[in-house]
Amino acid sequence: MSQLNTFINHFKTKSLRQLVANFRNEYISDGINEDTLKENPIDQFEVWFNEAVSNKLNEPNVMSLSTIQANGSPSNRILLLKGFDENGFVFYTNYGSRKAKEIEGNDHAAMTFLWLELYKQVRIEGVLQKVSTIESDTYFNSRPRGSQIGAWVSPQSQPINSRAELEKKVEEIEQRFKGIAVQRPENWGGYCLVPTVIEFWQGRASRLHDRIEYRLGENRVWTKQRLAP
Ligand SMILES: Cc1cc2nc3c(=O)[nH]c(=O)nc-3n(C[C@H](O)[C@H](O)[C@H](O)COP(=O)(O)O)c2cc1C
Repeated sequence: MSQLNTFINHFKTKSLRQLVANFRNEYISDGINEDTLKENPIDQFEVWFNEAVSNKLNEPNVMSLSTIQANGSPSNRILLLKGFDENGFVFYTNYGSRKAKEIEGNDHAAMTFLWLELYKQVRIEGVLQKVSTIESDTYFNSRPRGSQIGAWVSPQSQPINSRAELEKKVEEIEQRFKGIAVQRPENWGGYCLVPTVIEFWQGRASRLHDRIEYRLGENRVWTKQRLAP
């Protein structure tokens, strides 16, 4: 029976809620140990990120970013990580977007990575800072020309009347930069999430997962703590 027929038969006999509840996978792995994880969580992130890359996972740099609206409610979207180092975790976006306005009002944020095939999750909490204009320029200049033009074209998160409006703007911007390099628009650049909490989650059998959380103390030293799954 085709997968579609199986789905339709399930749907006929069960409620959709039951159907979703029945998706169930065991996460089998060796687990992680507070004694063997690196002292510095960014070094540990590097180990896991490299593992995601070497396993050829699709888009290993995909993450979700949560910011806080003026009324205190969270908002969340998927972004691409474009770099990390001892300072934190960098992504690029439009400085006039909804997220940017939320960050202006409250710079606290949270980022989550999921490397599902490895049964790994990393949660990061901290404060967002704009990266330097030089850093944004350097990254912008490395982007494909189409993406550079896209950054000029899209008033990200603003209502627009039609897709045609965007396509017309692409032509205008292409004319404007004909034969020359596309400059970074001032309203486009990077943010760095400067972390204070980083948690590594490793899925294990029977939902008895491993969670090791690092917290940055006032002495600027990271301490590790195992958490219940
Ligand atoms: C896989 C994926 C990668 C994305 N990467 C980015 C990104 O790096 N920067 C960005 O501004 N938006 C990215 N987006 C779009 C965002 O999810 C979001 O729609 C956009 O940033 C507007 O969010 P806002 O209205 O909360 O500001 C990505 C979306 C997906 C699905």
